[in-house]
Amino acid sequence: MDTQTLESVPVFDRDFWSDEVILDPYPTYRELRDLGPVVWLARHEAWAITHHTELRAALGNPRVFSSARGCMMNEPMNKAFAGNILCTDDPEHLDMRKVFALPLMPGTVRKLRERMEELAVAQVDLLMKRESFDAVADVGHYLPINVVAELVGLPEDGRRHMLEWAADSFDAFGPMGNERTLTGLQIAQEAGSYTRGIDPQKLTPGSWGASLFEAAGRGEISDAQARSMMMGYVAPALDTTINAISSAIWLFAKNPQQWVRLRADRGLVTGVINEVIRMESPIRAFSRYVAQDHSLGGVELKKGTRAMMLYACANRDERHYPEADRFDITRPARDHVAFGYGTHTCAGMHLAKLEMTVMFNALADRIARFEIVEEERRPHNTLRGLHRLIVNAIPA
Ligand code: HEM
Repeated sequence: MDTQTLESVPVFDRDFWSDEVILDPYPTYRELRDLGPVVWLARHEAWAITHHTELRAALGNPRVFSSARGCMMNEPMNKAFAGNILCTDDPEHLDMRKVFALPLMPGTVRKLRERMEELAVAQVDLLMKRESFDAVADVGHYLPINVVAELVGLPEDGRRHMLEWAADSFDAFGPMGNERTLTGLQIAQEAGSYTRGIDPQKLTPGSWGASLFEAAGRGEISDAQARSMMMGYVAPALDTTINAISSAIWLFAKNPQQWVRLRADRGLVTGVINEVIRMESPIRAFSRYVAQDHSLGGVELKKGTRAMMLYACANRDERHYPEADRFDITRPARDHVAFGYGTHTCAGMHLAKLEMTVMFNALADRIARFEIVEEERRPHNTLRGLHRLIVNAIPA
């Protein structure tokens, strides 16, 4: 950006990916929103879309805010992900999404409910025999790991690495020069070479993975697309949902009266999901390539720049949500952007919502209150969540 242009736009000149900002992001998000709906991140040479209204407008305008040149903040990742569902524009994107989203439609996902309920109830019963447990490893992980591994149908060696690949690949979405990005890039390469080498014969027959290769066999998608979509079932499905479930327990431990309300009225569970991921959005931001000169929020964005879509920041926009920092499960928050918005809206949201509903109900049946014993967060370039959350669960 030339200096003349810079003088007329709001500028943020600190590192958006520093440990301090990542571990306690909300004061920075507020500062960014107060600077304006569209802010220049000088350190990273990219725009940040910070307000709810402008973010929905940008996500709903993929001709300007294009995904086809990648959604990450570094070119090696943008190149490596070329052709991935996340990193394409329509119509190519929609062709892939039609095949990809088949097993993730509400009606299909609903059929998993009974099996999930059995798993969740058995796990919570087991945990109630212990004095305390880790809401991340023992609760958050449980359904995403067991259900996703089974449905995708990866062989044992893939299942073993799934969690590590998923989380670290998201670290690789950060800017170059950031240590986490560099480590993430190595792991993303490892995951990529595993995916390229998968033998379709080794996938569980009838699994989501096997169906993708069948679609490739019928010529509906290419072999390379089948491989990249298979990881699309794994990478975005794990830590996002794990973080949402464990963040919920953290929020309820801090706001016990909200837990009492949910226990008294299970009809509130959909509101709980929306409010949890509005408050603690598991994905903080992805980026877009600005494909045309465009005016947004009073700022002229030039073709060829990059814009960060700050979902987590827009979800706390006090211009849109009164008392935005307050956790209120009865708040009308359906229009949050934690699952994105527009053509790239999360393809797995019905599965994620079902996993959360089932787990919250199993916990609410048995637990009167959570007390936090210990909590630990680790910085991550893209994801927000706890690394460990030891809680005492007071039985109902
Ligand atoms: C609470 C859990 C989840 C959250 C918060 C979340 C969040 C998001 C967000 C913000 C996007 C938009 C990306 C963009 O704007 O470019 C997205 C896209 C996506 N998500 Fe999720 N997600 C979750 C769970 C899942 C699950 C369980 C799956 C898979 C089974 C999944 C698969 C995907 C895929 C494939 C896309 C790309 C869709 C496209 O480009 O058309 N997600 N997710």
